[in-house]
Amino acid sequence: MNAPGSQPGRTEPYRVAVLLSGSGSNLQALLDAQAQGMLGAEIVLVAGDRADAYGLQRALRHGVATAFVPLHHPRDSAVRAEWERRLADVTAAFTPDLIVLAGFMRVLSSVFLDRFPNRVINQHPALLPDDGGDTFVTSRGIVIPVLRGAHVVAAALRLGLPITGCTIHRVTPAVDDGPVLARAEVPVLPADDETALHERIKAVERRLIVEVVARLARLNG
Ligand code: GRF
Repeated sequence: MNAPGSQPGRTEPYRVAVLLSGSGSNLQALLDAQAQGMLGAEIVLVAGDRADAYGLQRALRHGVATAFVPLHHPRDSAVRAEWERRLADVTAAFTPDLIVLAGFMRVLSSVFLDRFPNRVINQHPALLPDDGGDTFVTSRGIVIPVLRGAHVVAAALRLGLPITGCTIHRVTPAVDDGPVLARAEVPVLPADDETALHERIKAVERRLIVEVVARLARLNG
């Protein structure tokens, strides 16, 4: 029998691998949605580059295959390429249809990405445009700079932006670029510090990642 929402003919569930480096609250949202039968997909692997990533514990608790693939010398390009190959090998062993970077704090190059063409998506805690440009126009017509990189929540506060948000996009070798699958705006409040603002963004991200994975599973399952 086909899984709910899957295409006729496909009997296997849509397989999702999650890569993370941190707390994994977005992974938890996916696991919860799966447990409630709302995802139309199965999380088959959670892999991380940090032994202390709490997301790995969440995966273990849910009985999901879990891999720690350490990167010991991140600045050595040969070591890094070998690490990407190893991470790709581990991931490929679980034959995922989709790979979700859910707070994965390493940039993946074509060494990894070429193994999974068009199958890797990323969550970014700021608004990214459709055109790869440097400005974003919000729904209320406010023009804000596009924030890329690792510290975008702090940057939104530092720049005094009235609005920020989150984006889910396909991953290409260009950092924080690639076709946008979903985005949502989040207002910056006067009392916000980085933790408070990031928590409000993450609350939206958790809803969005479940929607996007469920949608992709429906379309490709
Ligand atoms: C999210 O804000 C995501 O956009 C960013 O890292 C955070 C991950 O949060 N890349 P969590 O580990 O899922 O709680």
